[in-house]
Amino acid sequence: MSDDGRGRRRLALGLRARLIIIFALGAFVLSSLMGTIAYLTTRHTLIVEQQTALLHQGYANAALLRNAIAAQVPSIGAEVTSLDTGQGTSSLLDLGGRWFSTSLTISRSSLPSALRSNVKAGHVAYQASSQTGRPLLSVGIPIPSVNAEYYLVDDLTSLQHTLKVLLVALATAGAATTLLGALLGLAASRRAMRPLTEVSDAAVAIARGDLATRLPVDSADPDLAGLTGSFNAMVDQLEERIHRDARFASDVSHELRSPLTTLSAAVGVLESQRDTLDHRSAEALDLLAADVARFERLVTDLLEISRSDADADDLHLDAVEVGELVRRCVASSVRASGAGASAIIKIAPPAEHSVVLVDKRRVERIISNLLENAEHYAGGATAVEVTEARGVVEIAVEDHGAGIPPEERIAVFDRFYRGGAAGRRGAGQGTGLGLALVADHVRRLGGTVHIEEAAGGGARFVVALPTDGATT
Ligand SMILES: Nc1ncnc2c1ncn2[C@@H]1O[C@H](COP(=O)(O)OP(=O)(O)OP(=O)(O)O)[C@@H](O)[C@H]1O
Ligand SMILES: [Mg+2]
Repeated sequence: MSDDGRGRRRLALGLRARLIIIFALGAFVLSSLMGTIAYLTTRHTLIVEQQTALLHQGYANAALLRNAIAAQVPSIGAEVTSLDTGQGTSSLLDLGGRWFSTSLTISRSSLPSALRSNVKAGHVAYQASSQTGRPLLSVGIPIPSVNAEYYLVDDLTSLQHTLKVLLVALATAGAATTLLGALLGLAASRRAMRPLTEVSDAAVAIARGDLATRLPVDSADPDLAGLTGSFNAMVDQLEERIHRDARFASDVSHELRSPLTTLSAAVGVLESQRDTLDHRSAEALDLLAADVARFERLVTDLLEISRSDADADDLHLDAVEVGELVRRCVASSVRASGAGASAIIKIAPPAEHSVVLVDKRRVERIISNLLENAEHYAGGATAVEVTEARGVVEIAVEDHGAGIPPEERIAVFDRFYRGGAAGRRGAGQGTGLGLALVADHVRRLGGTVHIEEAAGGGARFVVALPTDGATT
């Protein structure tokens, strides 16, 4: 069933294509209808006109011949030949069985027998026929006073040609109208799709984290006001909810802070008297101290991440030289936790004085988190490298540990994600927030972070930051 559904979806045309087809089809049907009506009306009018003209001429000629026959002119054949039969017409006279004709090609056999019997019966009649592909229209007029019948035969080839030209012209106009319809459909579909494109752009911006995005209300089409209104209301609610969650996490972390400070101080007091404790109590104290430390770290990270979610922590941007910045960050991490002591700092000469516009505190947190991870999971960072290319500075923290398998390289940046390495080394130390904070800080600085495999094995975390555009 799902296969079926997928097949149907693949066949389904997009909204734009459907609009274009509808417009083109509409134009085609309309132009075909108008064309057919125009063709049939013109054809009818032309044929009727031709018939009337033929009939008038026929009557005039018949009257001339009747007078000539009544006056017993010596050569009736010459009278018939002298008739002004006009272009493309031929005259035939049946005078008591003797036939006279003005044309070599049109003879009595050219006349339809039904026409002849009608005329013989004393009626004026006309009939269409064809002779060797030539369309003919014949009119028959009885002249009973002299026992004669007069026929006037018209060749309709030129009329047929005119109608053919008209047909081609109408078909061309129809095709042009259909094309115009398709173009109109394209323009209309673009216009119709614009609000949808705006909605989709707004949704993409919101998904990227720009919660202030709204659809413009003033310019909204009245028909779309409902959609605009509910979309904006949905984003309002989403924003409110995210901020509420962030505030909640922030409040909880705050509330936990003071008891934690008391706990930490109490542990400190106990640790100062560790010598007086027996073995089991000392062990219990170590466990307690480790957990209190971990708890403190968790609360600090939670506070930081929730502040960032609520956009409560402002960016304090400074233009700084990246070489000096990285050296200072590594040194402060070594001072604070010893992480990074084993790392060799390699700064490529062009990058040394590259200027980045950053919040120094955030860069410090990024580097210290990466160095601490290397310490916990890979026996310490081996190198911190800085390079610059095409307006982007890359800071890479490398280790020679087990590395991070490709399938985990995105997930490790998720909150509370603790990968396979956490179980192998330093279990129980982390909370899984470190790399989530790194990703958050990098994003706020307008950069990106990704993981590669270090040459010779191990993990290589690469943070890319845009330069300030000024290199001193
Ligand atoms: N250098 C590394 N080598 C191997 N695995 C790593 C490395 N850095 C991080 N990881 C893996 O990524 C996981 C997530 O790291 P992250 O820093 O987010 O959390 P954590 O270190 O477990 O806890 P926290 O940093 O919040 O105290 C770690 O649990 C670990 O499995
Ligand atoms: Mg960590």
